[in-house]
Amino acid sequence: MITVAIDGPAGVGKSSTSRALAEHFGLAYLDTGAMYRAVTLWCMDRRLDLDADQPDQEAITEAVADSITGGHLVMGLDPEHPRVSLDDRDVDEAIRSTRVSEHVSVVSSIPAVRHVLIAAQRAIMADQDRGVVAEGRDITTVVAPDAQVRVLLTAREEVRQARRSGQAQSGSAGAEDLAARDARDSKVTSFMSAADGVTTVDNSDLTFEQTLQVLIDLVSSAM
Ligand code: C5P
Repeated sequence: MITVAIDGPAGVGKSSTSRALAEHFGLAYLDTGAMYRAVTLWCMDRRLDLDADQPDQEAITEAVADSITGGHLVMGLDPEHPRVSLDDRDVDEAIRSTRVSEHVSVVSSIPAVRHVLIAAQRAIMADQDRGVVAEGRDITTVVAPDAQVRVLLTAREEVRQARRSGQAQSGSAGAEDLAARDARDSKVTSFMSAADGVTTVDNSDLTFEQTLQVLIDLVSSAM
C-alpha cells in the first residue's frame, strides 16, 4: 500500500494530474479540495451566513461535523469517476461554482473545521488497501506527512490563471481571482513552498503528459 500526497495552489492542474496518476497505478483518489467545497455548499444550503463580518464559526463547525458523522457527505474515490454527493445528490458541478469557490476559504480557515476534515481524510485514506493519491493544500505537511511520495505541484501565477481561464471558457469552472484565494488559503496552510522532504514539480513549461510522467517516475521509484 502506497500513499502519494500532492499539494499545490489553485489552477496548477493538481486534480487532473492526480486522477490520471491514481488511474495509472490503480490507486484510490481523494480530492480534499472537493471535500472543503462540499461542506461549504452544505453550510450554504443550511443558510449559514458566510458573508458575515464574523461568520458563526461554531454553527459552521457543527454543520460540517454533521455532514461527516451523519454520513451526508460521500466522497467517491474512483479516479475515473470521483463522484461527490450530499445526501445522494450529485454535487460535482455545484461545488465548482464561483459562489462556492469564493466562500470556501471562509469555511476552510476555521481550525475546528480543519480538525474534523483532517480526521475524516485520514480515516478514508487508512481504509484504502490499494493505496491512495490524495491532493490538496496540507496533505504533504499535516494530513499525511509520512506519505512515501510527497510532491508540491506548482506553476507560475500567470500560467495558472491562464489555464483556469481556459477551463472557464470551456464551461468547467467559473472565472475567479486565483491569487486572492491563494492569499486567503496561505494564512492557514503552507503550499507555496515545499516543506522538508517534499519534491517540488514546477509544471509551468510542461505539458499535462510531461507532468504526469514526472509523477509516474517519482511513484515508480518509491514502489
Ligand atoms: O483544490 P481546490 O481548489 O478545489 O480547493 C478548494 C479550497 O479548499 C481551497 O481554496 C482551500 O480553501 C480548501 N482546501 C484546504 N485544504 C486542503 C484542500 C483544499 O484548505 N487540503
